[in-house]
Amino acid sequence: MSESSKQATWGGRFSKGPAELMLRFSESVSFDQRLALFDIQCSEAHSAMLAEVGLLTVAEKDAIHRGLTEIRSEVEAGSFTWDERFEDVHMNIEQTLTERVPEAAKLHTARSRNDQVATDMRLFFKAACGELETSLKATLNALIDQAEKNQTVYIPGYTHLQRAQPVSVAHHLLAYIEMLGRDLDRVAAVKDQANWCPLGSGAIAGTTLPINREISAKLLGFVDADGNPRVTRNSMDAVSDRDVHMDFVYACSLIGIHLSRLAEDFILWCSSEFGFVDLPQTFCTGSSLMPQKKNPDAMELVRGKSGRIVGDLQSLLTMVKGLPLTYNRDLQEDKPPVFDALDQTLICLQVAEGVVSGLTMMTDKCASAVADPALLATDVVDYLVEKGVPFRNAHHVIGALVALAEEQGVALNALSLADVQSVDCHFEADWVDCFNVEVALAAREQTGMPGPKQVASQINYWKKRCQ
Ligand code: ARG
Repeated sequence: MSESSKQATWGGRFSKGPAELMLRFSESVSFDQRLALFDIQCSEAHSAMLAEVGLLTVAEKDAIHRGLTEIRSEVEAGSFTWDERFEDVHMNIEQTLTERVPEAAKLHTARSRNDQVATDMRLFFKAACGELETSLKATLNALIDQAEKNQTVYIPGYTHLQRAQPVSVAHHLLAYIEMLGRDLDRVAAVKDQANWCPLGSGAIAGTTLPINREISAKLLGFVDADGNPRVTRNSMDAVSDRDVHMDFVYACSLIGIHLSRLAEDFILWCSSEFGFVDLPQTFCTGSSLMPQKKNPDAMELVRGKSGRIVGDLQSLLTMVKGLPLTYNRDLQEDKPPVFDALDQTLICLQVAEGVVSGLTMMTDKCASAVADPALLATDVVDYLVEKGVPFRNAHHVIGALVALAEEQGVALNALSLADVQSVDCHFEADWVDCFNVEVALAAREQTGMPGPKQVASQINYWKKRCQ
């Protein structure tokens, strides 16, 4: 037998080892070594369960645990030697362990790499969701701080990228806070989905050996709120299911998309055309040619990377679609998109947090943009509605006033009382009071509206939630 076939754990039925090209093609240890600590945890629980049911002696289990502890320290120290001839993280650890601890030849009893990798990934997802939650909260807190600071800075809100109605910067930022808040819920739901233990499903059809799946599940923390083990109900599904992968990357994609929209707003806002915000220099770059430039590269990269994360989701969806049950080696390709989605989402969240904490609202520019009286045209409609004019007619009347102001070359609120009364007799001298932004916002105090009290109470809600 060739060197490589002797080393492969599955070499028994082969007389030839894999070609060097095949080794390079099929290895996954270069990326799945990231699962090493979860794999060790999984092996500790599995061997403890095997000892519990009598498939290992306590001495054998202890020897295996000592070996695993040693490998864990080496992995943590970065001194463990990974060898692509052993294909993946599972075989690398098992082979090295068995070389050092002969008892480890029993470790793979009643286990397949198929249920092993499914379990490792679920442990990974639970931890990864925890990391996302921490980063989401940090970004949320940066947004909450800015919202709090900018409750009385008003800007035009936009629809169709046309100035629509005045809002406070706080209300605008609270929209993003809502999005990231939903992301928190989504990540929690993914964490719950991940919380089922596939270990014991074997390669496809379980095992004839008297294992106890509940023991392993409990040892690995796959338990419900009452501490009862949560084990998967169908061995074929358990080894081929990649739903959590897709749920997870979908959650990352939505975080990416939310951050991308935020980034786009900031990119617009920091242009000379808007000038609403000054982004922190530490997250901007200059031009190698044009000395005056200060470019919002961080925000552009956040926008760009969201496309990459959506691409990761697309890779997974396409990979799983049409796969026959159960495990197929295609599924090994599930890890790079998952790891990439997590890494990119985390760094985008951190960068967004940095940009948001360091930004300054340019209050003069905001004030001059929001001073456009046309932004309150709708409030003038409401003024007439309160006087009993049907909404459709009132809308028409104000439309006519906008046209008249345009014709006269004056601002909407500069039309004379006589002029506006000539269009509709319900107007009185107080009609110009409609053009005060503070008054307009103070009139919007129902839940979800941009009134200052409402905004302050939303800020308080989020402060409590994101502690
Ligand atoms: N490295 C493999 C993966 O990630 C582990 C499972 C291998 N199973 C197999 N039957 N070859 O998918």
